[in-house]
Amino acid sequence: MTTELQARAEESPAQGDGGGGILLRGVARAYRGRGGASVQALADVSLQAESGELVAVVGPSGCGKSTLLELICGLQSPDRGLLESPPAVLMAQRDLLLPWLSALDNAALSLRVARVPRPEARRRAASLFGELGLDGFQQARPSELSGGMRQRVAFMRTLLSGKPVLCLDEPFGALDALTRAEMQEWLEGTLAREPRTVLLVTHDVEEAIVLADRVIVLSPRPGRVIEELEIGLERPRGRTDGEVVALRERALQALQIGRIR
Ligand SMILES: Nc1ncnc2c1ncn2[C@@H]1O[C@H](COP(=O)(O)OP(=O)(O)OP(=O)(O)O)[C@@H](O)[C@H]1O
Ligand SMILES: [Mg+2]
Repeated sequence: MTTELQARAEESPAQGDGGGGILLRGVARAYRGRGGASVQALADVSLQAESGELVAVVGPSGCGKSTLLELICGLQSPDRGLLESPPAVLMAQRDLLLPWLSALDNAALSLRVARVPRPEARRRAASLFGELGLDGFQQARPSELSGGMRQRVAFMRTLLSGKPVLCLDEPFGALDALTRAEMQEWLEGTLAREPRTVLLVTHDVEEAIVLADRVIVLSPRPGRVIEELEIGLERPRGRTDGEVVALRERALQALQIGRIR
């Protein structure tokens, strides 16, 4: 398994240098509507993710979390501030699968975009189906898959892009509790074998603490960093571990204070 994943990482055409983390200093981003009205999504965001680190971002709905990931992936540009990141791939909040392609071809899409020949792209994508509990669904169209299955196909596509930074926007949001726990375990195992720098947006504070090296708490819009928690706990972590519960309380308190400020 290790060799298979390592081989996939080495084969990945879009792989960057694998080094270097993410750095944001004083980043701001506003959306301007046609009528001239402006929505300040992010204001003065500064954060850092070291190479190979998993940083979770939590914050109230509309505080600019998806905007933040799009900035890091270069899909938008900041209005102000400094942003440095190695090549980054986005797993969008909605799964964005192509309805006319099979699950296998959807998963292989990032390899095809990088001009990997179809048989090779399919072979590499197919090797992940078993690991994600999707064996037998390679030929299914997205409309024949459950929300959680679609999410997993989108996750495979993200991973197969081979980019050193993964920006995951609520990747497990559509999953039931059991599948969610399985996927979290799978993500931990995958990252242990094939390290990437990960920015994980989640509304689940416990999930953030169980998975992340560091948790960033954003204020309501315009989003700014109001708390940063170092999670120096051994892995694997359980949701009911005393330290996890204590850190969860701190994060929830920061969210609460941010809301009434
Ligand atoms: N393309 C856009 N055009 C105009 N406004 C936008 C656009 N995208 C986002 N916004 C606005 O920017 C703000 C931040 O949006 P964003 O999607 O980044 O929030 P979020 O934290 O990801 O929210 P959620 O948790 O609900 O996904 C919101 O007020 C939203 O209405
Ligand atoms: Mg969002």
